[in-house]
Amino acid sequence: MHQGPSNGMIGRVLPDPTNGPGHIFLDANMSVNIGDKPQADFSNPIALMMDCHRRIERFLQALRAVASNAKEGTLDQRHRTALDAALHYFVLAGPRHNQDEEASLFPALSALSIPEVAAMRKRLAQVAQEHADAQMLHQRIEALGRAWLDTGAITQEEWDEFGRLVDQLLAIYTPHIALEEREIFPLAARVLDSQVIAEIGRQMRARRNI
Ligand SMILES: [Fe+2]
Ligand SMILES: [Fe+2]
Repeated sequence: MHQGPSNGMIGRVLPDPTNGPGHIFLDANMSVNIGDKPQADFSNPIALMMDCHRRIERFLQALRAVASNAKEGTLDQRHRTALDAALHYFVLAGPRHNQDEEASLFPALSALSIPEVAAMRKRLAQVAQEHADAQMLHQRIEALGRAWLDTGAITQEEWDEFGRLVDQLLAIYTPHIALEEREIFPLAARVLDSQVIAEIGRQMRARRNI
């Protein structure tokens, strides 16, 4: 067992009305910046989904940084804050983002009988499968990461596994986000009418109980 500090305070996470545990961003040094970027609002749900992607990327980088930099499994205060914020994000906000896509955006697209949507059907099924694949990895990362935070220690094997899981997540999310932003979202913006877009925004808001 690698022993780490067990009494470090976990960084406080502020409520975020749009999508998650807080306007918490982690830069390359894992410092936490609060409220540093104006968010899109529910009247522009596709832009909001892209904001979510930026948060997913930042919290993935935070996990990667923890996996790389926590020397011999020891969590210092910055690592604790970054790990806690990232785990929190992927438990609460990550699944909501997937629902925004799978339960709101993709059905709205699929309801259209047009060739562009028919051509995208395989890709919509692919990204839904990737959500499920990523979720399995998140569950294991959550278990490993929470135990690490709770005990301040992690075995070498678990630390190695943690790093491998983060790399697998990155391998899923990087092309996944690119596909959504380069093909699916632009198609949605082109073919969905404004009332449907507004309804997606309302569903996203309701999903967050706002
Ligand atoms: Fe997605
Ligand atoms: Fe997405």
